[in-house]
Amino acid sequence: AEVVIVANAAEAGHLAADAIVRLIARKPTAVLGLATGSTPLSTYAALAERAAASAKLPGTKISGAKISGTNISGAETLDLSRVRGFALDEYLGLPPGHPQSYRTVITREVVEPLGLTPTNIHVPNGSAEAAATAGDDYERAIVAAGGIDLQILGIGTDGHIGFNEPGSSFASLTRVKTLTEQTRRDNARFFETPDAVPMHCVTQGLGTILRARHLVLLAYGPAKAAAVAAAVEGPLTASQPASVIQLHAHATVIVDEQAAAALA
Ligand code: F6R
Repeated sequence: AEVVIVANAAEAGHLAADAIVRLIARKPTAVLGLATGSTPLSTYAALAERAAASAKLPGTKISGAKISGTNISGAETLDLSRVRGFALDEYLGLPPGHPQSYRTVITREVVEPLGLTPTNIHVPNGSAEAAATAGDDYERAIVAAGGIDLQILGIGTDGHIGFNEPGSSFASLTRVKTLTEQTRRDNARFFETPDAVPMHCVTQGLGTILRARHLVLLAYGPAKAAAVAAAVEGPLTASQPASVIQLHAHATVIVDEQAAAALA
């Protein structure tokens, strides 16, 4: 993987947004893999900022004449209306519309601020009744979209990506998984009580993630340092699921100095 060390999450967000903007300039219908959690927020904020700046440029509203790239004034034009997206994961069994379901979170933190087209954005079906079919359905939808062009990834303190906890197969596809106690504790901050964190999730598999054309893994803060070092430099092992990125030909790891602290 290519490792880029930056000063802070804001800078990392701009760098990740650069890669996304370049992709969309080349392919306005690009398919993004969307992570949730705290880590990708600065990337989404940077993209929202650029989309808002682009919307203010004279002439860029004339859709027929709109070209992604750089306009004559040198400002970047960015049209996100045709971008498609697939969330990495979803909790299983939260009632529809629950404020912490990733469908709701993606709508609130990504679709609305970026002005994405809601019907272009997919999230695994987290209803308990769909548990048996949600994984295969999601894989089919990703294939039908032509695959994921750029997958944004955070990393758990235990080395998970998506909700592929330690022990996940490198070949796994989207399926139901059990969250570890560590991950439930890490995510308890989003819920009213620790017990309210669901026990299960539907997550893209490590094999699904490997099929994306470009991986952009983001990590900030000292709590992520060990997981980042294991992902980038450790042995390939299912006990550190993120080490699977070493098998990918185009993986970019953007970290702040604290998250980079355990790298050789
Ligand atoms: C979220 C996801 C998880 C998180 C990871 C880090 O869709 O798949 O792998 O990226 O748990 O979470 P934060 O960013 O909140 O530290």
